[in-house]
Amino acid sequence: MSTPEQANSTDAAKRRAAVWAASQVEDGMKVGLGTGSTSALVIEEVGRRVAEGLRITAIATSEASQKQALGLKIPMSDFAHLPQLDLTIDGADEVQEGTLYLIKGHGGALLREKIVAIASKKLIIAVDPRKLVKTLGAVFTLPVEIVPFGFETTMRRLKDLGFDCELRMNDDGKPFVTDGQHYIAHCKLPQVGFDAKQAAEKLKATVGVVEHGLFLGMASKVVIGGPEGIQVLE
Ligand code: 5RP
Repeated sequence: MSTPEQANSTDAAKRRAAVWAASQVEDGMKVGLGTGSTSALVIEEVGRRVAEGLRITAIATSEASQKQALGLKIPMSDFAHLPQLDLTIDGADEVQEGTLYLIKGHGGALLREKIVAIASKKLIIAVDPRKLVKTLGAVFTLPVEIVPFGFETTMRRLKDLGFDCELRMNDDGKPFVTDGQHYIAHCKLPQVGFDAKQAAEKLKATVGVVEHGLFLGMASKVVIGGPEGIQVLE
């Protein structure tokens, strides 16, 4: 649990990162909008700029972000009309120092987030300083999106591959269901000798796995909000 002071400084850091990331959106751009509390601040700022005359078209990475963007009158589109995006701005659960490898998906939107990120020329990640880690998995588990049918056998196979996973549950005791109607397995990552690229390949090759939250070599820039300003890693 964080103290009210810590929560306030985290919120301020997120907002600083979000405002800088939103400032990278230029007139005429096609923009991907991320998911989570930091992305919500980005969408708020982009919405404010749209109200002031910025002309963009956007695609959202979740139903929640789509709803927020439409509420702010941001012109929204889809991949039938926009084959490529100029820039996507999203948050992350962890950013590995040096590599800018990411863990994403604790907001339950990793599949759409990856589809949108991969269709973008640039991906800017906005975070607060708590997200920076030396080793992926240091603080957060890795979310892995899996098909509901046979999820028990998929999770057993993930365990055989060395991923110790638990199904994400809602407060009502039912499995959490993503926008894509899948389940999420949260997997602990080994902290010694973990090879992110190898893990990503193994997960991709597992039948029943739709996508995983390792975003490797995808972030163009990471902006970290701090108590007084921002730091940009690239
Ligand atoms: C959602 C995500 C989010 O970007 C990630 O969970 C960070 O969220 P927040 O900005 O609320 O800390 O990957 O699937």
